[in-house]
Amino acid sequence: MSTYDVAVIGSGPGGYVAAIRCAQLGMKTAIIEKYSTLGGTCLNVGCIPSKALLDSSHHYHDAIKHFEDHGIEIPGEVKLNLEKMMERKASVVSQTCDGVKFLMDKNKIDVFEGLGSFKDKTHINIDKDGETQTIEAKKTIIATGSKPSNLPFIELDKERVITSTEALKLKEVPKHMIVIGGGVIGLELGQVYRRLGAEVTVVEFLDRIIPTMDSALSKELQKVLKKQGMKFHTSTKVKSVERIGDEITIKADDKKGKEIELKGDYCLVSVGRRPYTDGLNAEAAGVKVDDKGRVEVNDHLQTNIENIYAIGDVVRGAMLAHKAEEEGTMVAELIAGQKPHIDYNLIPGVVYTWPEVAAVGKTEEQLKEEGVKYKEGKFPMRALGRSRASGDIDGLVKILADEKTDEVLGIHMIGARTADLIAEAVTAMEFRASAEDISRMSHAHPTYAEAVKEAALAATENRPLHI
Ligand code: FAD
Ligand code: NAI
Repeated sequence: MSTYDVAVIGSGPGGYVAAIRCAQLGMKTAIIEKYSTLGGTCLNVGCIPSKALLDSSHHYHDAIKHFEDHGIEIPGEVKLNLEKMMERKASVVSQTCDGVKFLMDKNKIDVFEGLGSFKDKTHINIDKDGETQTIEAKKTIIATGSKPSNLPFIELDKERVITSTEALKLKEVPKHMIVIGGGVIGLELGQVYRRLGAEVTVVEFLDRIIPTMDSALSKELQKVLKKQGMKFHTSTKVKSVERIGDEITIKADDKKGKEIELKGDYCLVSVGRRPYTDGLNAEAAGVKVDDKGRVEVNDHLQTNIENIYAIGDVVRGAMLAHKAEEEGTMVAELIAGQKPHIDYNLIPGVVYTWPEVAAVGKTEEQLKEEGVKYKEGKFPMRALGRSRASGDIDGLVKILADEKTDEVLGIHMIGARTADLIAEAVTAMEFRASAEDISRMSHAHPTYAEAVKEAALAATENRPLHI
């Protein structure tokens, strides 16, 4: 039987990064993945394929809606080849997954394909095609990720009543896609199919879309998506989803308690994800799982069993690839005796619609709830030369800073390329910058980043220059 210093169960961004860092630190490392490709949800059915489709559908939409504004005329009709778009997405995914295999080989990490389950605290069974092999691991990192959640009364047939996994490989553009849940998945994939020509209606239980982000972003995003033709029912509670033939009927109660009925040909259920430990046999090792299905961990990502750790979507906190990666690095360094730290307040959140939405730190709602006295600086994207040049005039940057000390407490943005701009906000906050610090840094002109400087000027002494 092979013995390892560390075995990692699950090869998503949490697991594969943990494995690389363990190997870099000199530990003999194994990684176990039940699917034939590495990379987990993120690479196979999450971040990467969704971004590939967002980018492709964005090009298509620009070609049919915006090229003309730029003086570009296409003789004849612009045609969508969905099959090719999906093939391209699949090839982006497979290249990325192959890249992870390359990294495992480069770092001399042993890759096992099969379902990993605990035999006891230090032994893991790996099952594949009816055969079992067992390895010994001094330490184990559980990185088994998450799966889509569902509502108890919905039957997911995975053909027309679908999750994100199926929505990433549809063979036709829906005529009318009804999206249950106005969170990240619903809006990103809703926008993909809207751009490709579908009618898209979003039904959200709470009173605003992306409800965990600052409400200024919810408001602006809903306004822009409405302009693009998406329809919204907020404060609406879905009661039933029924499929007859190709038709889906959804019944829900609206904000006034009145029943509404929606008919479509596809229904995307995007109401969150649940931690995944099916088949792991955590009990055999004595590892505790909480009532929400999450593996319980302490501040050092250690479970109740000393030599077993857990990271990523399967533990508490944001279900994000970069959060899982940070935890993967942290856990490897902890095992190696180092003292790493993650500031969870500074894990940015991004929605890759266009305009993109990105945020870090506290929202205005959180500051109010915590009774923190703050000041605000806002700047609209439309006032930037860069935005006018490209035509991407929607959006804003909002900076919240401590009323007394001027320390930046939260940066919230919506607009072109804010997914990349948020890195500046994270850096500034990591170094505990004040709004004035940001306002005095030179920002290249003309860039979207100037909106961050202007919002910081607005937060400092209400002295933005270009509005
Ligand atoms: P996962 O990526 O879920 O990986 C877990 C792996 O463990 C899987 O491969 C699974 O097969 C394997 N596994 C489970 N149990 C076992 C077992 N017993 N034995 C062996 N293997 C096992 N996040 C972002 O930050 N940015 C984005 O743009 C983004 N887009 C997303 C889009 C979609 C449509 C979805 C669904 C998610 C998206 N996410 C995004 C979230 C992101 O995918 C997750 O946060 C991330 O994948 C979590 O990483 P993880 O390593 O914890 O788990
Ligand atoms: P989500 O938590 O982002 O959004 C779910 C939405 O559904 C919420 O707005 C919620 O209020 C709503 N909802 C819940 N129950 C409902 C009901 N009964 N009826 C109507 N609405 C209901 O979850 P989502 O979009 O499924 O994504 C899962 C996770 O995957 C995200 O939380 C995120 O962690 C990750 N993800 C990240 C992305 C990114 O970083 N860009 C992209 C896609 C997913």
